[in-house]
Amino acid sequence: MCARRAQVTPLRNQWFLHPGFALAESIGRENIGQHDMQPASTGSQWGKISGKLFRGLVWRFTTMRVLSGIQPTGRFHWGNYFGAIRQYIQLQDEADDAFYFIANLHALTTIRDAQQLWQNTLDAAIDLLALGLDPEKATIFVQSDVPQVSELCWLLMTVAPMGLLERCHAYKDKKAKGLAAEAGLFAYPVLMAADILAYDSDTVPVGEDQVQHIEVCRDLAGSFNHLFGETFVLPTAKILDSSAKVPGTDGEKMSKSYGNTLEVFEEPAVLRKKIMRIVTDSRPVDQPKDPDSDHLFQLYSLFASPEQREEMAQRYRRGGFGYGEVKQALADLAVDYFAEARQRRQELAARPKQIQEIIGDGGAVARRKAAEVLLRAQQACGVKPR
Ligand code: TRP
Repeated sequence: MCARRAQVTPLRNQWFLHPGFALAESIGRENIGQHDMQPASTGSQWGKISGKLFRGLVWRFTTMRVLSGIQPTGRFHWGNYFGAIRQYIQLQDEADDAFYFIANLHALTTIRDAQQLWQNTLDAAIDLLALGLDPEKATIFVQSDVPQVSELCWLLMTVAPMGLLERCHAYKDKKAKGLAAEAGLFAYPVLMAADILAYDSDTVPVGEDQVQHIEVCRDLAGSFNHLFGETFVLPTAKILDSSAKVPGTDGEKMSKSYGNTLEVFEEPAVLRKKIMRIVTDSRPVDQPKDPDSDHLFQLYSLFASPEQREEMAQRYRRGGFGYGEVKQALADLAVDYFAEARQRRQELAARPKQIQEIIGDGGAVARRKAAEVLLRAQQACGVKPR
């Protein structure tokens, strides 16, 4: 299960002359076939590879790396799953290369209990694997297993304007509440920039709330490149599809801070109880209801097939039924929907060594890439000789 495909990516966006053998010679035969190449110009040209002249089409690697981080702040709820995790799983198939990590250093700005943080980190790894992140397709690792990121963070700190960070919402919101903020919270976006830049990431799938941080990352990378020469790849945010809006048990957005969550791996019996307690309005049973403005219907729609959804919508419009029935139906579908993942989770949780091995392997791949980028940055700014 831990066998990995070879990771070779420093070639991205470099130009190569095509004659197959020349290419093979310049990049190593074993690397061919893992990268998409596209002709970059029409007509053939002369060029030099390894000191020899060749004539051929110029081709360009177009490997795209997707990267995202997830904070291990507690067990994942439906909002995390439908809003992000499900899309990460899709992207691991679509991208050439996907890096997903558990952002335990970021979580350290809020969690101050060692045992809890480590437990959350393990749980997050198990949950993600059980839900379908696949170590064969993506590099899955723990943020702190890549110390190069923290070193890179410092280099970026030296070009990060205070004013820019003062405007970032995590820090700003805390200040606005009159709370004392730590330097770690202040520098949160810089660490996030280091996370992204350390792996030459192209695409960063994030929710709306993180888009500001990607902008900061681009700003810092741009400043560094401007000061010291081209060093970092500028990433682009890919805003996650939030069309599947996930309301919580009170109808507000599902969020741990509102205490209205339904957890993906909740025990079925407990989940049913929680679903039964979802707040609904008190319109009489026989009155027709508008499904589209009802959060219970929105939750049901997350799990229902198009036919089931349509049938339920019609029952809403007809009236003459109770919310209790919808809750029952929702509970049945939700329990069923995650049944396989729950089974896989049980199996994985019984093999902690295997989990350690998977994130250990992922960490090794991530470190190799980050070491290369860190050295590039260190040489650019003069803390290492060129
Ligand atoms: N700050 C992100 C969040 O809370 C998590 C995160 C940390 C992240 N580093 C990242 C996301 C790098 C994308 C890229 O959701």
